[in-house]
Amino acid sequence: MKTNTVKLGVNIDHIATLRQARRDVYPDPVAAAQVCRQAGAGLIVCHLRQDRRHIQDADLFKLCALKGETHLEMATVPEIVALALRARPDSVCIVPESAREVTTQGGLNLKTQSQAVGHAIARLKRAGIEVSLFIDPEAASVRMAKSLGADVVELCTAAYAEAEGKSRCSAELERLELAGYLADEMGLGLHAGHGLDYHNVRPVARIPRLGVLNIGFSIIARAVFVGLKTAVLEMKLLLS
Ligand code: PXP
Repeated sequence: MKTNTVKLGVNIDHIATLRQARRDVYPDPVAAAQVCRQAGAGLIVCHLRQDRRHIQDADLFKLCALKGETHLEMATVPEIVALALRARPDSVCIVPESAREVTTQGGLNLKTQSQAVGHAIARLKRAGIEVSLFIDPEAASVRMAKSLGADVVELCTAAYAEAEGKSRCSAELERLELAGYLADEMGLGLHAGHGLDYHNVRPVARIPRLGVLNIGFSIIARAVFVGLKTAVLEMKLLLS
């Protein structure tokens, strides 16, 4: 049974990936953000990576100056935390980041990174920025997120998206539901994302009390064929 309306966060990193392929000025992720908003995106999401492979510092500042919510994904490295504090996105999601990964690989390891994560949360929250932690759907990680002072957890849906066969897929969905239930019980906001597409998104969108789904690659890939506005509208329809 559906009990909530899920906001769609559209990650526009790969508009910038295309631009950076030619080191040109287009396609412009800021213009893309405006199209996404017109199509009903609840928030615009970008990841400022240490290697600047897609989003650049100037993009972040321009995106944060636009009307509407901007959500930044970032690692806890001091340089990026300092930029976030200057650019002032509405919210950030702290993610693990490593140099050779193609995309974010699973959730944070809060056992080994608790000090850096806790320190970044405190600084960002003091600046009035809502902070979420990207975690795997495990009870221990939800509890750690709460104890470190996060406002929200974003559950990593990669294992669900990659699961083969109905029973593995249902098992991964159940893990997401259970972690979501615990997060809600603990007073944490609930987001989810990673690897979601037009075929696998619906069951995740029906997780009770889910507030936001952050989706990037599949929407931008579909936009190549149908245009960005239609690609966002189609995804929004699946969340409703
Ligand atoms: N959520 C987080 C924390 C991410 O790092 C990413 C990838 O940037 C996404 C969601 C979106 O993942 P995808 O591009 O696979 O939809």
